[in-house]
Amino acid sequence: MRAIVFDAFGGPGNLRLAEVHKPSPAANEVLIEVHCASVNPVDWKIREGMLAELFPYEFPIVPGWDAAGVVAGTGKGVTAFHVGDKVFAYCRKPKVQHGTYAEYVTMAAEAVAPMPRNLDFAAASTIPLTGLTAWQSLFDAGKLSAGQKVLIHAGAGGVGSLAIQFAKSAGATVFTTARGRNHSYVKGLGADAAIDYTREKFVDAVRALAPGGIDLVFDTVGKHVQRESYKTLKRGGTLVSIIDLSESGEAEPYGVRTSFVFVSPNGGQLREIAALIEGGTVRPAEYEEIPLDRAAEAQERSRTGHVRGKIVLNIR
Ligand SMILES: NC(=O)c1ccc[n+]([C@@H]2O[C@H](COP(=O)([O-])OP(=O)(O)OC[C@H]3O[C@@H](n4cnc5c(N)ncnc54)[C@H](OP(=O)(O)O)[C@@H]3O)[C@@H](O)[C@H]2O)c1
Repeated sequence: MRAIVFDAFGGPGNLRLAEVHKPSPAANEVLIEVHCASVNPVDWKIREGMLAELFPYEFPIVPGWDAAGVVAGTGKGVTAFHVGDKVFAYCRKPKVQHGTYAEYVTMAAEAVAPMPRNLDFAAASTIPLTGLTAWQSLFDAGKLSAGQKVLIHAGAGGVGSLAIQFAKSAGATVFTTARGRNHSYVKGLGADAAIDYTREKFVDAVRALAPGGIDLVFDTVGKHVQRESYKTLKRGGTLVSIIDLSESGEAEPYGVRTSFVFVSPNGGQLREIAALIEGGTVRPAEYEEIPLDRAAEAQERSRTGHVRGKIVLNIR
């Protein structure tokens, strides 16, 4: 099968299109014929070796953790899926080796879900990693509930685009940071207020919007953004970070809780997200499609940190 691979950690030039062995599903696994794989910042971080100490890996590595496609086979014990089903999944496995920038990938059936019926493969591939990250951060770690106020950083990004919509669908008031050119986009997703972090201090803007403080900060940027964010929370509030908690020492005077999330595969939560999409409450982030052989370019654009929405690799 065709796949993008790399044989050593390094720059985008290490990515090459290759013929590699087609995988077969083990017990309790599904074989997915991948139609589209979306690109996430973690893909270039892995390529550069930034996660080498977090996960076991083996070269050559096929990058990519997001897939939408068609079930092409099932392993022993799989009853929930059949050949021909349209599915999507966040395909992170215990070892970094066989990713989704490929014509086929295998994944544990429990992490796979039927694609939302109203989406095509490209749109569906934008959902799993970012959707599960937003879901687990807002609801599992952040305990967000109706009537609460939340600040979502980087609302125009892949994670932020879905986080805004999930928070609104849960009945929260949503403030988000984005540069001015993205304000109509994030407001179109439901944000109650957009703060241009390049022109004003977001702390001042949030304090003006919510003088009594807010309930939850979703930190998708880290460092000084995390440090400043503690000032926006009410006592007893929560900051959930998907970057790290390197600034959590700053939290103590504010009497707030901190939590770090590293997104886990979860087919059950993907089904819940699919239901919101089918019901029209949530739509995919804006995305651009490019062919698989331009994966290096896609990762370099992701690396700038200023892509609006997502980039999708077309594999078929
Ligand atoms: N721990 C986990 O499980 C987990 C899961 C998913 C993602 N992540 C990490 O979370 C981060 C965000 O992921 P993503 O997929 O959403 O990335 P992304 O799609 O690449 O995010 C890009 C967006 O970030 C915005 N942005 C950049 N700097 C900003 C700042 N200082 N303040 C506000 N917005 C800013 C940009 O908007 P403007 O152009 O408007 O600035 C752009 O739209 C990445 O570092 C990723 O690796 C972690």
